[in-house]
Amino acid sequence: MYTHHNNELTIRDAGKRVRLKGFVQRARNLGNLVFVDLRDQEGITQLAFDADNELRMEAGRLKAEYVIEAEGKVRERSSKNKDLPTGDIEIDVDAFRVLSKAAQPPMLIRDETDALEEVRLRHRYLDLRRPRLKRLMKLRHQTVKATRDFLNEEGFMEFETPILTKSTPEGARDYIVPSRLDKHHFYALPQSPQLFKQLLMIGGFERYYQIARCFRDEDLRSDRQPEFTQIDIEMAFIDQEAVIDLTEKLMARIVKETKGVELKRPFPRMTYEEALRDYGTDKPDTRFGMKIVDTGETFAKSGFKVFKTVLEKKGTIRGVNAKSLAAAYSRKDLDGLTKEAERLGAGGLVHMKMEDGEIKSPIAKFLSEEEKDGLTEKMRMEEGDLVLLVADSEKTVQKVLGRLRIIIAKEQDLVSGDDLDFHWVVEWPMFEYDEEEGRYRSLHHPFTRVQDEDRAKLSSDPLAAKAYGYDLVVQGYELGGGSMRIHETKLQGEVFRVLSIDEKTQRERFGFLLDALSYGTPPHGGIALGLERLLMVLGQTENIRDVIAFPKTQSGHCLLTGAPSVVDEEQLRELALKKEKKRDG
Ligand code: AMO
Repeated sequence: MYTHHNNELTIRDAGKRVRLKGFVQRARNLGNLVFVDLRDQEGITQLAFDADNELRMEAGRLKAEYVIEAEGKVRERSSKNKDLPTGDIEIDVDAFRVLSKAAQPPMLIRDETDALEEVRLRHRYLDLRRPRLKRLMKLRHQTVKATRDFLNEEGFMEFETPILTKSTPEGARDYIVPSRLDKHHFYALPQSPQLFKQLLMIGGFERYYQIARCFRDEDLRSDRQPEFTQIDIEMAFIDQEAVIDLTEKLMARIVKETKGVELKRPFPRMTYEEALRDYGTDKPDTRFGMKIVDTGETFAKSGFKVFKTVLEKKGTIRGVNAKSLAAAYSRKDLDGLTKEAERLGAGGLVHMKMEDGEIKSPIAKFLSEEEKDGLTEKMRMEEGDLVLLVADSEKTVQKVLGRLRIIIAKEQDLVSGDDLDFHWVVEWPMFEYDEEEGRYRSLHHPFTRVQDEDRAKLSSDPLAAKAYGYDLVVQGYELGGGSMRIHETKLQGEVFRVLSIDEKTQRERFGFLLDALSYGTPPHGGIALGLERLLMVLGQTENIRDVIAFPKTQSGHCLLTGAPSVVDEEQLRELALKKEKKRDG
């Protein structure tokens, strides 16, 4: 056994006999002196082998990543290392043993490694030896622990719900698992425990939580993984305010325990409509201003053809003012922003700089003095400001300006990872209209409760019906989402009707839930928070893979194990599955 971790010993321990263990970070052979940096989970301690130490030659042959244990006396170092907690001492070793030799690693095992991510993922166990990943894994543990501690104190019970289950309604593609006993029948891996947590409320439990693994087969992005973890919560006999209040307290506890920071509560709120109007997205980054401004009547009589055409088509002209950034954006930079706007579907991007008290812009010559004055006032343009305008349909304008805001903030360092701008987006509409499929779809999921006063709108004007739905947003990430649920069979039927889910499909997909609802259901609601998204923010990383011990690549592969992989014919036969025959031509 060892006596200490490698971050523990200080000058106060000088003279003590200790036994340490770990990986060799590096061995430095200085001729008549050998130093070995010994690394374990917690830190690094220097082992010293003096000129008269008979172990010196052997120590000089130690290679990086050998696993060893060593015994000796703590002593003060002659040259101290201020960057290391143990930097004042070293161990005068009088015995050591190699526990395991190591092949030459394919990457440098330290924070500033130059290895490609592919190499790091293939050898994830080596990557995990780096202090940075150690810190992030510890952060994950502390976050989960704080969550459990808090929710247990608040009277919640932890549950486990099935992994082999039936398709759940979160709207992504399912991962499916064939059943051997029921040929051509399939389980689905849960996209979330949504229906089970509702069934637990119907089962008479009042406060549920689960650190729940979820599976979604969707196109991956930098903040998405095919399997991820939710802090999943459900409560009975409560209202929306109770869920919001509890979630804020949970966030405050986690942030306090992991970062030592007190969050200000209550968190600010904005409606879904305000979020789209001011920030062009349902998950605004509010760490900086640059809100979207509608130019309103400014160009109502414009002679500028582009504006005129858009307004005739009932489009809109809106813009953002990038304060004092005129000088920061060259012609070439602005071309870059224009390309991005076009990629997102806009016909173009109008840029204007306020220089020498005048609007400078390629389109300035098409605008009247009145329009320029009106715009200056609307956009609150001052000397040195850069204004970007997009003229298009409302949807496109919001999408493009919402995105440009973020790009500019990143490029110009307007945001800080320390700024935890937790806020709520509330009053979500129940539905959106899917033009392609020609039907309404739920913005959250079909079990979301319509606001009491909007119930009649389910039949008269579904798009105007608001839900008891709320999202928690931080730094432009959708951290979590939740809602009050429907607890009456009749209302559930009305919602299914709006969604054009016929009775047969209702029975097939959700029959068990509809039955359950009919046996007496307490009003209930909850939320699910994406654990990895929270960790990305707390750990200040933009790569979701950094906060998962064994993550998958953007294409859903585990480079370490080689999953997904082919299975042998026998396995397929048992499951009554056949490989697709290659067709000729
Ligand atoms: P929702 O689908 O909004 O809600 O998911 C909740 C949160 O889970 C996280 N998340 C993801 N994280 C990483 N990778 C993914 N692929 C991924 N997909 C989602 C996000 C998201 O906000 N059952 C409902 C919750 C409820 O109504 O109680 C649900 O799953 O942070």
